[in-house]
Amino acid sequence: LSVEPCTLALFGALGDLALRKLFPALYQLDRAGLLPTETRLLALARESGEAASHLALIEEHLRRHVGERDLDEAVLQRFMARLDYLSMDFRRAEDFAALADKAGNADSIVAFFATPASVYGAICAGLAEAGLAERTRVVLEKPIGHDLESSREVNEAVARFFPEDRTYRIDHYLGKDTVQNLIALRFANSLFETQWNQNHISHVEITVAETVGIEGRWGYFDQAGQLRDMIQNHLLQLLCLIAMDPPSDLSADSIRDEKVKVLKALAPIAPEHLGQQLVRGQYVAGSILGRHVPGYLEEENSNTQSDTETFVALRAEICNWRWAGVPFYLRTGKRMPQKLSQIVIHFKAPPHYIFAPEQRQLIGNKLIIRLQPQEGISLLVMTKDQGLDKGMQLRSGPLQLNFSETYKSPRIPDAYERLLLEVMKGNQNLFVRKDEIEYAWKWCDQLIDGWQRVGAPPKPYAAGSWGPAASIALISRDGRSWYDDL
Ligand code: BG6
Repeated sequence: LSVEPCTLALFGALGDLALRKLFPALYQLDRAGLLPTETRLLALARESGEAASHLALIEEHLRRHVGERDLDEAVLQRFMARLDYLSMDFRRAEDFAALADKAGNADSIVAFFATPASVYGAICAGLAEAGLAERTRVVLEKPIGHDLESSREVNEAVARFFPEDRTYRIDHYLGKDTVQNLIALRFANSLFETQWNQNHISHVEITVAETVGIEGRWGYFDQAGQLRDMIQNHLLQLLCLIAMDPPSDLSADSIRDEKVKVLKALAPIAPEHLGQQLVRGQYVAGSILGRHVPGYLEEENSNTQSDTETFVALRAEICNWRWAGVPFYLRTGKRMPQKLSQIVIHFKAPPHYIFAPEQRQLIGNKLIIRLQPQEGISLLVMTKDQGLDKGMQLRSGPLQLNFSETYKSPRIPDAYERLLLEVMKGNQNLFVRKDEIEYAWKWCDQLIDGWQRVGAPPKPYAAGSWGPAASIALISRDGRSWYDDL
């Protein structure tokens, strides 16, 4: 698929996401020569006043976020020349006439909603009223709702005007190069796929740890919490890509059909088992890389009573033939000791053990897929230790593939670069279908209902630690530990 010229209308253009991620991503596409000359960008926001001053603000952010190494003045000027600003109220259908004027007779419009989901319906109605719907693809940022019911309302409000094949729901993890690599790793290597089931795999870990806290986002985050903010979308998407059956081809629907089967097979966790299978945590003051950081309840604009979790660890099970009896341990938190997204596949030990009994613990191959940072794959294999005095002493060593070293890639593109490019191509592969979102919500809703019924507050953990001790107990109860050998 090639990139067709379009008018990209960015709703919420002065918000954090647009300034920090979307404009820099579009700039990078322009720099890489991937934006057709005719492509125009429309920055849309409520702020009135001189367009020039809003454009200057966008340029200032671009300079800051793109970074010196990638900043090319000629490209920047070309990029800014594509950009126009329009002040509008997204809830007023009349304001969309001006947008239609600006879009002119562009064949294709990409409308990116970087706004709260509560206005998606109004924007869709406005686009339709202005006669733009037929030639528009809409891109919806997460979060789409805060539970199954509200996500259905948002999806229905959009579907009134836009069919599913012109609706692109973002989960930016799907735009990460290393996340797409999961498909290549699994389905371009027969080596792994034959082992990829409960006969050979004992358990799977998925960790997405961040060092950032909630800082300026308290208002949003406190309503959401880590389960809604990260598990419902990013971690469940990773789980699906690891657990799904091989799709028959690479088309968007073949892949999504397989992901949906996994979501449908996720076992609910009954409230009486939540204490054993799910841990919620909230960070208190601590230190990260030698820097003191405040607790969640001491962040700017916080209230001191909140029970919102900033950390979740859970033990999930997928009830199907392939994964019966294989726990998936998921863990994600803010203010962890380091930024780290990784998946660890633990293979079962050989069926008959012949080495020294005290080394039994060591046995078992691990496939470590590092999504960020230091993207790469490493397979831990058992070898004999070297040296005359070592006998048959075992040692686990890595077969290692570090993407940037091996492929000498100049830079790994940001997820939004890939996602914007794919929307402009009209390719839905990296976007989430309505039923995926809804099954993911359904599973998360029962967890949230369960813990609300139990009523236990989140467990405190010091910023800069790997979460509450209970998250270690959650996995050690099964005789295992988190793979933190960094
Ligand atoms: C977003 C969450 O979706 O993902 C944020 O809302 C989180 O809370 C972010 O910080 C993490 O993304 P990344 O790409 O930095 O791992």
